Amino acid sequence: MANIVRIFDTTLRDGEQSPGCSMNLAEKLEVAKQLERLGVDIMEAGFAASSPGDFASVKSIAKAIKNASVTSLARALKGDIDAAAEALKEAKYPRIHTFIATSDIHMTYKLKKSPEQVLEAAAEMVRYAKKFCDDIEFSAEDASRSNPAFLYQIFEAVIQAGATTINVPDTVGYASPEEMTKLILGIRENVPSIDKAIISVHCHNDLGLAVANSLAAAKAGAGQLECTINGIGERAGNAALEELVMNLSIRKDYYNLGCNINTKELYKTSKLLSSITGVRVQPNKAIVGENAFAHESGIHQHGMLANKSTYEIMTPESIGLTENKLVLGKHSGRHAFEDRLKEMGYELEDDALQIAFEQFKALADKKKTVTDKDLEALIHHKTLKVPEFYKLERFVINSGNTITTTSSVRLVAKTGHVLEEVVSSYDGPIDASYKAIDKLVGKRFTLEDFVINSVTGGTDAQGEVNVKIKNNEGVYNGYGVSMDIVEASILAYISAINNMLYDQENKREA
Ligand code: KIV
Ligand code: ZN
Repeated sequence: MANIVRIFDTTLRDGEQSPGCSMNLAEKLEVAKQLERLGVDIMEAGFAASSPGDFASVKSIAKAIKNASVTSLARALKGDIDAAAEALKEAKYPRIHTFIATSDIHMTYKLKKSPEQVLEAAAEMVRYAKKFCDDIEFSAEDASRSNPAFLYQIFEAVIQAGATTINVPDTVGYASPEEMTKLILGIRENVPSIDKAIISVHCHNDLGLAVANSLAAAKAGAGQLECTINGIGERAGNAALEELVMNLSIRKDYYNLGCNINTKELYKTSKLLSSITGVRVQPNKAIVGENAFAHESGIHQHGMLANKSTYEIMTPESIGLTENKLVLGKHSGRHAFEDRLKEMGYELEDDALQIAFEQFKALADKKKTVTDKDLEALIHHKTLKVPEFYKLERFVINSGNTITTTSSVRLVAKTGHVLEEVVSSYDGPIDASYKAIDKLVGKRFTLEDFVINSVTGGTDAQGEVNVKIKNNEGVYNGYGVSMDIVEASILAYISAINNMLYDQENKREA
């Protein structure tokens, strides 16, 4: 039987650290639940000591997740380990992940510590963490640029102190696959107690080799791979989970390794993350890109028609990509709607389902065909538990290319108050509407990013808008969908404001 490689997902820690990928508590919880459905073995929920917000998310995720280990990162410092242990208290399978840098460059310039001091701190902190839980991971930051002899020494010391996983990060994405192989084999041969721990790798993608390096390590005996959904992460990102997993699955003949991931959840997980963060994957991205299963050239299409195996090494269904079916019409009832959502893998609570159903009816009234993609866009964010501090009641635009645009926006606040503002702008309907909303909520934001996409083809397609707004307190994502792109833009802006207010409420409570 093939050996099982553990999949350690760090989307919510290393991934969330990357620019444009920050998430609020509700969004992180939603991603964590999806990672659980996906079948990851361990999820890194955050870095508890880094901020009250991170502490709160690690704590909530630890409480909510029952079918995976939940871990928090911690520097090799008592305070960090205390915070991680406290945040993980309610986890069913807690793990503390502590790290210290081991390369000469990092020890000299960053830590200003000698190798002896680093070794002592690592072993002492693993021993300290062990008081709180059994499952301890130790990472030697910048391992691939560290002196191998020193790595062997420090890994032996931390295993003796109680580490159950030793992680070998290629922190700056510098290694080659052959070097990773050599490093893992070297650790297996030169760390006397290595049988008492699992070897893990954590590869960054600065030279585009994160997945290749991780797979080389797995082939050489690493039993845990650290990765993120869509490969998000610091700088060029981390190894992409979906690519690692499909390599193990499709090339089982070569790797002879298995993992616990349900590959049918891969597409949905990728979609969820990109729609929450607004960071889309490139169309030609392996496995989950829009074109990953598209066969355009005549020769390829001919081959595919003759026999799919000519050009297809994996099926779209294997990653959970459903056919973009014509689903329901305007006469479809709530049951049919709910059943279709279930088939697509979505279960909404009653209130959210009712709202989604009403929106579906309104859409089916206007649009000839409603497809799975339309439904996906409609239910997007309906599973998130972000309260609607403000809701759009209506907007009226007077616009043209020879007149100044005027936008009148009416919002209903959570308190029930109705607020209305009219603003004129030379810069068109979206600018005028956003300025009106700023006035209504009494705040000013910078629009950091604005992306509009059509959900399907056709002039009657829905438009989906992702925005990022910024003020001195942070950057917030928002999403809106409508057949009217101005409405989608307004909804996205309001959703970003609701996310901001939700975040502030959580910070006050933390
Ligand atoms: O890239 C890295 O070295 C890390 C460690 C903290 C595991 O993220
Ligand atoms: Zn990293």
